[in-house]
Order: sequence, then C-alpha cells, then structure tokens
Amino acid sequence: MKKDINPKKNKESENVEEEVLFTSLRAGDWQEFFGQPKVKRSLHVALTAAKKRKEPMEHILLYGPPGLGKTTLSHLIAKEMGVNIRITSGPAIERSGDLASILTNLEPGDVLFIDEIHRLNKVVEETLYPAMEDYALDIVIGKGPSARTLRLDLPKFTIIGATTRIGLMSAPLRDRFGIVQRLNFYSPDDLEIIITNAARKLKLKLNSQSTKELAQRARGTPRIGLKLLKRARDFAQVKGSDEIDENVLIEAFNLLEIDNLGLDDSDRRLIKALIEKHGGGPVGIETMAATLSEDIGTLEEVIEPYLMQIGLLKRTPRGREATEKAYRHLNIPLKKSLQQVKLV
Ligand SMILES: Nc1ncnc2c1ncn2[C@@H]1O[C@H](COP(=O)(O)OP(=O)(O)OP(=O)(O)O)[C@@H](O)[C@H]1O
Ligand SMILES: [Mg+2]
Repeated sequence: MKKDINPKKNKESENVEEEVLFTSLRAGDWQEFFGQPKVKRSLHVALTAAKKRKEPMEHILLYGPPGLGKTTLSHLIAKEMGVNIRITSGPAIERSGDLASILTNLEPGDVLFIDEIHRLNKVVEETLYPAMEDYALDIVIGKGPSARTLRLDLPKFTIIGATTRIGLMSAPLRDRFGIVQRLNFYSPDDLEIIITNAARKLKLKLNSQSTKELAQRARGTPRIGLKLLKRARDFAQVKGSDEIDENVLIEAFNLLEIDNLGLDDSDRRLIKALIEKHGGGPVGIETMAATLSEDIGTLEEVIEPYLMQIGLLKRTPRGREATEKAYRHLNIPLKKSLQQVKLV
C-alpha cells in the first residue's frame, strides 16, 4: 500500500537523493568496475589502439537493461582517454540546432554521451550521420530555390550512445557505431564485491551473510544492489546502529516486499496475472500491458529481462509464457494442461 500524500513529489526527491548517492558511489576507475569481463576487454583493446594512434576513440554503443553501468563506463572511457565528457540524452536534443550547438562546442577528442539514444528524433538523427562519419555538419541556409547547404567541419570526437532498447534504434544509426557492446546481468559473486565496496565507502558494517542476501536480491543489477544497501542503512540508522545484520535486512526486505529471488511487487504481479488471468500463456505483450496497466516499454526493458534471466518467464513466438518455476515460486499449483504436456 502506498501511503504517500504526494507520491510523485516524494518519489522525485527520493530519486534526487538516490542519484547523489549513486554518483558518490560511482566506480572511479577500472579496478572499481567489477564484472562485465567481455565488455571491459574489448573496450581496453579499442582504447589502447586509439591511444597508440593518437586518435579519438571510435563511436561506442552500450545497450542492456537499466542500472548495469552504462553511464559509469562512459565516464571511465573519457577518463582513460584524458578528455571531457558532455552528457545529454535523446529526448533533450529537440532540434538539429541543439545538436549543432553541442557539437561545435566540443573540443578535439571529447566524448559526447547520449543517453536513451533510441529516442532521438528523425531529423536530429539524420544530422548526426555526417557528424559521426565525417565530423561535419550540413547546414541548410535559406529556403526554397535559393537554399544552400553549408558544410561545417567539426573537431574529431567520440559519441557514446546508451540505450535499454536497441531494437528501437534505426539500422543506419546503429551501423555508425564502430563498437557495439551489450551489458549483461551481474553474477551474485560480482554483486557481492560491488556491495562490499560500497559498504566500505559508506562506512557501514556488513557481514558476509548479509552481503550474500543483498547480492541475491539485487536482480543482477548494481544499481538495485546499492539501492537495497541504502534502504538497509536507513533501517539500521533508525535503530541507532551502523551494522547491517540479518534482522535489519529482514525488516527492509519485508517493507519493500522483496522476496528471496529479489522480485518486487511488479514482478510478482506480472507472473501472477500471466498465470491466473491468462492460464500461464502464451499471451501477447500488448494484452499483458493492458492487463497490468503498464506500458509495453517498461515491461520489456525493466521487468521482463530479469524474469527471463532467472527462468520464470519465456518469450515464445506466440507470446509470453510462465514456466514451472514461476508456478512453484508463487505457490500456485501447476495447471492440468501443463502437467499433461509434461507427461507426453
Ligand atoms: N560494474 C560495476 N562495478 C561497480 N559499480 C557499478 C558497476 N556497474 C554499475 N555500478 C554502479 O551502479 C550504479 C548505476 O550505474 P549506472 O548509472 O552507470 O548504470 P546505467 O546503466 O547508466 O543505468 P541507467 O540505464 O538506469 O541509466 C552506479 O552507482 C555505479 O557506480
Ligand atoms: Mg545511465
């Protein structure tokens, strides 16, 4: 039950506070950035080569579910190249003119980080093509028959695009990135290290069992691990303690309604609706979105990836299906048809 009088406002101030915390905990160098070995390896090769050639880094596209470290990696790349990073996002660049003013203000080698790059509008996107390929902007001056195109040279720079929805990006834009890397969910072991490090920075006492419990419930996502740690810290502080022990965790998880797989209310609502309202599926995403009054994007990017990762949900050509594990997790008896299919 939500008890907030003004939930939106509280949520916003909470987000600001959380953002400050995440920024203060942001991995400052490669040693502090754990996991993602494949991504790190290929970035290292590209960074080393670019530095040897004394050229800016190729354009990089990072994609994957939220909270896995796309922003953090971009900062690390800029730091490694010894250049500035300018941060913007797809929806923030409304017109080609906005893009032109950002690009013409870059210094040679700078990184321009474009978050949610799948949300760039078409006109801006097309202005970006020559900028990425030839470091040039084509500006149209005048209108009608007397209109002329002027080519403006830009300093060489690197774009790092981040998206949770690579499927919504147009192929021409995607193809202009020399390096395309997918970030994956983190293993519980990696999350334990990330959480331990953060606890040390926050000067919190956290025993190994509590670290395990937190890592297990972090949905493979550092951002969620850190958020749970922060919540647990609040609970401990209320008790006048700086130690996060099992009792504190139980209280925090109960209040946040987070179960032993790290599922929260929205996750369980999805699985439950799939099983109880749609006989376990298969059911199309549009129907699921309507059943839950959620938008399709949130379901696809935020909720479903982890449920699929831990094997509670399957995406099939005919739609979403709940797995046996999902029935067991929610303590719902397997429906007959499913059992029969299994026996065949
Ligand atoms: N591999 C990692 N090692 C240590 N900390 C990490 C790692 N990945 C992410 N974090 C931490 O998790 C938090 C969230 O990371 P970040 O903001 O980079 O994620 P993101 O992918 O940009 O998320 P979003 O899609 O929500 O913008 C940060 O505080 C960051 O320091
Ligand atoms: Mg980010």
